[in-house]
Amino acid sequence: MPEIALTQAPAHLRHGSSIGQPLTRRDGHLKVTGGARYAADNHPPGMLYAVLAVSGIARGRVAFLDVPAAKAHPGVVEVMTPANKPPLAQDPDAKTNPFMFRLDLLQNDRVRYANQSIAVVIGDTLEAATEGAALLSPRYETEPARTGLDAAESFVPPGVGVGNPAEVRRGDVEAGLASASRRIDAIYETAAQYHNAMEPHAIVAAWDGDRLSIDTPSQGLAMAQGRVAGLFGIPPENIHIRSPFLGGGFGSKGLISGPQLLGIMAARLVGRPVKLVLRREQMYGPVGHRAPTRQRLRLGADRDGGLTAIDHHTKTASSSFDDFFEPASDASHTLYASPAIATSHEAVRLDTGTPLFMRAPGEATGSIALESAIDEMAQACGMDPLAFRLRNYAEVEPISGKPFSSKALRDCYARGAERFGWAPRPLAPRQMRDEAGLLVGWGMGTATFPALMFQGEARAVVRSDGTGVMETGAHDMGQGAWTALAQIAADGLGLEAEQVEFRSGTSDLPDAGIAGGSSHTATAGMAIHNAGAAVIAKLADLATGDQRSPLFGAGNAGVTARAGRLFRRDDENRSESYADILGRAGLAEIEARGKGAADPAAQSVYAMHAHGAVFAEVKVDPDLGQIRVTRLVGAFAAGRVINPRMVRSQIFGGMIWGVSFALHEQAITDRRSGRILNANLAEYHVPVNADVPSLEALMIEEHDPHVNALGIKGVGEIGVTGSAGAVANAVWHATGVRVRRFPIGIDDLVTTMDAN
Ligand code: MOS
Repeated sequence: MPEIALTQAPAHLRHGSSIGQPLTRRDGHLKVTGGARYAADNHPPGMLYAVLAVSGIARGRVAFLDVPAAKAHPGVVEVMTPANKPPLAQDPDAKTNPFMFRLDLLQNDRVRYANQSIAVVIGDTLEAATEGAALLSPRYETEPARTGLDAAESFVPPGVGVGNPAEVRRGDVEAGLASASRRIDAIYETAAQYHNAMEPHAIVAAWDGDRLSIDTPSQGLAMAQGRVAGLFGIPPENIHIRSPFLGGGFGSKGLISGPQLLGIMAARLVGRPVKLVLRREQMYGPVGHRAPTRQRLRLGADRDGGLTAIDHHTKTASSSFDDFFEPASDASHTLYASPAIATSHEAVRLDTGTPLFMRAPGEATGSIALESAIDEMAQACGMDPLAFRLRNYAEVEPISGKPFSSKALRDCYARGAERFGWAPRPLAPRQMRDEAGLLVGWGMGTATFPALMFQGEARAVVRSDGTGVMETGAHDMGQGAWTALAQIAADGLGLEAEQVEFRSGTSDLPDAGIAGGSSHTATAGMAIHNAGAAVIAKLADLATGDQRSPLFGAGNAGVTARAGRLFRRDDENRSESYADILGRAGLAEIEARGKGAADPAAQSVYAMHAHGAVFAEVKVDPDLGQIRVTRLVGAFAAGRVINPRMVRSQIFGGMIWGVSFALHEQAITDRRSGRILNANLAEYHVPVNADVPSLEALMIEEHDPHVNALGIKGVGEIGVTGSAGAVANAVWHATGVRVRRFPIGIDDLVTTMDAN
């Protein structure tokens, strides 16, 4: 198979500075010129095309497939069904850790959700395979589909998110509510959402004996490699995955999915390379989604507007066969000081694909409900929403009682409000109109997301020509990881960026940890930083122990690295180049490895979160109920910013998703069939340019000495939190109508607006 020249991008030469610089994407030129090769762009010689046949029912069994008709179609090479699929070394329904997804790999004729794979047709051309799949004309034994949060008996899930307890309490919530002079008791509903990355899940798989080469987008190369190894019974090192570019992921590419694995199985079955790409509608099922929620918030406040209790209960759904539970109530753990907090979850099992992480899983769903309830309570207390939030500002993390490793939320509130011009906001709703007579409303929300780290590793090399190499199998979903991590690499090696060859995006490199949980820059970045420091320490050992070096006797601690040279700390006039040090030692290169991971000692003491404040302006047509977001201003404190351009763009993406959450996105399930009615980008609404307002993201300077040595907190997910609530609250402020079901639609407003 042709190799992608990962390290020879012309853009590499433009990448010319280090931490803190607003560099453009080093892969940007490749992307805008079409030179970036995504997974499905790889066409190895002899490649065949595989097309999924998916279930048209949500529950039951496949009673008949017309395999002979499909096979008879010209160009169809093979049809893979439960009858002839290659054997697997592992049961796809086995689950040995919470980061495993139970898979549909044609293990039997059961149908557990609509769009489940029921066969794979392999052909010489995409057209032949597509036609073959249509000719399968499946017949089913259909059982009634369980849809909606009331379709089944609910239970308390064993855990929510990845291993969080389903119920947490601190203090006496009932007492807090009983003693309150103001109470809010409201139910908020959020819709199911599906990941709609521009690049659908795709795979090109080629076997060579028991070695396997895969091109596929991944947010977690090492986990994918391990999963494939387990399922196919081959050693992980026999599997080479290339994932240099992703056209978005949002969590859906964190775990390798069933359809990707079916591509590998198809290649094994036919003994030729196979490419399989999901069609847009096929993404609504087997690759995860954001589960719907119904959240009950009960808040109590005293006469001064101080919260006395927060009770946040979430009902959500998982699939009939696997466990992922959207941890929405956990959003109430960290934001507002209250002497009593209780969070709990219940769930039902529905005939749906298994839900999974989607950008700020739990935080996004929980945040829009909590921020709406806080807004309602501020109103009940007769307080400005910002003043109310400041009144209930948490100096320590409310649920754990731990101090924050750092918290610049007050600055976010102040700077965001000032930039937005919040001060003259009338307390009562429906007070503002623009010159065209549209209702104008202002709302706000608080943003927060934990500063997580997983585990990663990097390998650093310094070569005798004075250049360096940094290797880590990181993932660039489009967020700019390649660029930001290469900046850290340059600083870590004490080299100019153009002197560092940054290798990333393949599974043969050290495991960079998963690109999820907004943790990638911190985890992979710390691995890179530590690998750089380790290789510099080796260089320093060579120099300071050698009488011929001007650094002789300086000792490791007495040396700094900069611009390809080591300097004595106490005398900058005494220095030596990396090239000279290695040359004298007769070494072509030296290498060292470094790891990145959270510090458990610091984590046991401190609560670690990024924070922000978002302010929204909406305009609502008083007759038609049409809502337009006209301004969105966010101020965010997320520790050290490696690349301000990438960070701003990440935050914008999150804020736009907030607009989407509040006003656009929802998957609608047909109650009769259990199928999703709008599994396409025409009817599943996401904001387009015309829906996106003037956006501003202010980054508030923040030095966190505890999260990690670089002070990085991560920015991938925080933008969606806060923003969704801000938009919803602005809609209330414009209209006086409190809509508690999201997304808010025209119909929610026109039926009630007149009455106000
Ligand atoms: Mo994200 S939902 O952690 O990719």
